[in-house]
Amino acid sequence: MVDLKAQYDRIRDEVEAALARVLESAAFIGGQDCARFEEEFAAWCGVKAACGVANGTDALTLSLRAHGIGPGDEVVTVANTFIATGEAIVLNGARPVFVDVDPVTFTMDPERVEAAITPRTKLIVPVHLYGHPADMKPILEIAARHGVPVLEDAAQAHGAEVDGRRVGALGHAATFSFYPGKNLGAYGDAGMVVSNDAEFVARVRQLANHGAGRNKYDNVVIGTNSRLDSLQAAVLRVKLRHLDEWNRERRERAEAYGAALAGLPGVVLPRERRGARSAWHLYTIRVPDREALQARLRSRGIAAAIHYPRPIHLQPALSTAGGRVGDLPVSEQLCREVIALPLYPELPLEAVHRIAATVREFVCAATTS
Ligand SMILES: Cc1ncc(COP(=O)(O)O)c(C=O)c1O
Repeated sequence: MVDLKAQYDRIRDEVEAALARVLESAAFIGGQDCARFEEEFAAWCGVKAACGVANGTDALTLSLRAHGIGPGDEVVTVANTFIATGEAIVLNGARPVFVDVDPVTFTMDPERVEAAITPRTKLIVPVHLYGHPADMKPILEIAARHGVPVLEDAAQAHGAEVDGRRVGALGHAATFSFYPGKNLGAYGDAGMVVSNDAEFVARVRQLANHGAGRNKYDNVVIGTNSRLDSLQAAVLRVKLRHLDEWNRERRERAEAYGAALAGLPGVVLPRERRGARSAWHLYTIRVPDREALQARLRSRGIAAAIHYPRPIHLQPALSTAGGRVGDLPVSEQLCREVIALPLYPELPLEAVHRIAATVREFVCAATTS
């Protein structure tokens, strides 16, 4: 699905120099690279403050804590996402309230949000899935009407935009994952919380560092150890300089898929909502018999992945939230039909055409038989 070695080959010299700098400085935790990366990533997103953490799951969990979410509270989110979005809510003792998604962009359906809000709702967490931004304008309007903040789960969408503004700068705060396969990926786990609310980011920083106050051994609240380490920050600083170019290359490949797969009966291709720009983290198509398509692609040496086979309201781990089959028809249908084709900046355009031809051949054979 991705070739991280091909990416490393493009930036090897820069990465090795950056790593050597950290090794020479021996500042492995909280060094200059962490502070610089936070500043650079915040500026890139267009926000005032950022706090690096150990991974995207902690970014979510600590952001919920910093929002004061706890037992008795409800958090409105989607089920068509990675488990971490729901985990962060349950880990804080709150209840996830799942709403269905839009069938075209696979993101939170704003029309479902209002009805899900109760006096216990403390936060709304839309997910910018597969790189496509959620429909933030109406979501933010509803949230403002009810006085509820919005936290963007931007783990999959570094650089996605709504009306020319990058995700991360749209809600009250946002969380990112730098898992290696993400658009901006570390060489291990890493994550980030960003916001224009510097006090909120300071609370996240305190929670991520054992609840320490001004002094290291002045522990004010129970926190945890969830720091971004300097080696990952150094790698991420190098990669951030290339991210715009890589996102352009992703778009070029997504457009090539779009052109090559257009008009196939029964196949739904991803489309951008008006005013939205996807970061094209994944290229997901909807096909009725995706397992057979996946097997056909595999027989030709092509990896295709299924994200996600089960919406998280039906995951046993989240059964306490009371989700039942049929609650979220669109999310459930998408989880039966979506399949992601390989997409990464270094993927040769010739490979895109070969993969698309295999899909076309499969679909045409299936419709004529
Ligand atoms: C939507 C979403 N949220 C949160 C996460 C969690 O990020 P991490 O794997 O860095 O903990 C992921 C990771 O894939 C994700 O896709």
